[in-house]
Amino acid sequence: MTERPKILVTQKVPAPAYPLLEAIGDVEANMEEEVIWPYEELLHRGPGHDYIYCLLTDNVDANFLEACVAATPRLKMVANMAVGFNNIDVETATRLGVAVSNTPGVLSDTTADLAFALLMATARRIPEAERFLRAGKFKGWGPLLFCGAEVHHSTLGLIGAGRIGKIVTKRASGFEMKVIYYDVYRLSPESTHHLISERELDLMKPTAIIINTARGPIIDEKALVKALQAGKIAGAGLDVFEHEPAIEPELLTMENVVLLPHIASASLKTRTLMATMASDNIVAHFHGQRPPNVVNPEVLA
Ligand code: DGY
Repeated sequence: MTERPKILVTQKVPAPAYPLLEAIGDVEANMEEEVIWPYEELLHRGPGHDYIYCLLTDNVDANFLEACVAATPRLKMVANMAVGFNNIDVETATRLGVAVSNTPGVLSDTTADLAFALLMATARRIPEAERFLRAGKFKGWGPLLFCGAEVHHSTLGLIGAGRIGKIVTKRASGFEMKVIYYDVYRLSPESTHHLISERELDLMKPTAIIINTARGPIIDEKALVKALQAGKIAGAGLDVFEHEPAIEPELLTMENVVLLPHIASASLKTRTLMATMASDNIVAHFHGQRPPNVVNPEVLA
């Protein structure tokens, strides 16, 4: 490729990502803070770019990919600024010869920190207690005031003992927790869908607290609401949702549920590392090198 490539950045990302891209190509970028282009706009803007730098909120489906490879310049690579890539139809991308990259590793500690924070917040009822205080209801120390569950010396069950899960076990060892885990190497999105549903919730004990910092569809959110309403489990801490950003309305009314807006990797340092890593993947591809984090390396052969 001798010409400067055309690069589309679909959302505003940490600033250090841009000069890396501008050094090799012509960058068109959505610079509006917190503005996610609707699918139709993405479909309108995407075709005609060599590289698309996208986020997990962009639906890079077969229709979009086909439009982008039919155009000139032809799409060569989709660089997701996320470790997860369930927003991208990787199978179609591979069939069309489009490389897909992600940003693993740099967010593992930060995500593990938040998973643990969510566990602590839910077990010790921290947001609920803070709401109480801010509402002017705190009249003095009380022997039964906001008694929660203990985290130290309890049992932590992990689903997924990959990079992030392993780090969570290190956090847990500081709390002298017993850790048990279940892991199947890289389950497909279809087989993780509703991995936790009515049956699994029924098997849990009434003191159980469930935390999700992975992907929303892993938990059947309606079944979760029912289990919480029936007291089958004690609480839930959720950073991700089945139909994100929509949330089952009942969850918003429950005091034993802690809800966060998908911020597990949200420290400025980590997001900056993710942003530059996505750029590095594009730059490497442009220079004819193997991108450091390509998820479908077969297209590079
Ligand atoms: C990811 O990277 O997949 C997270 O969900 C957001 O950081």
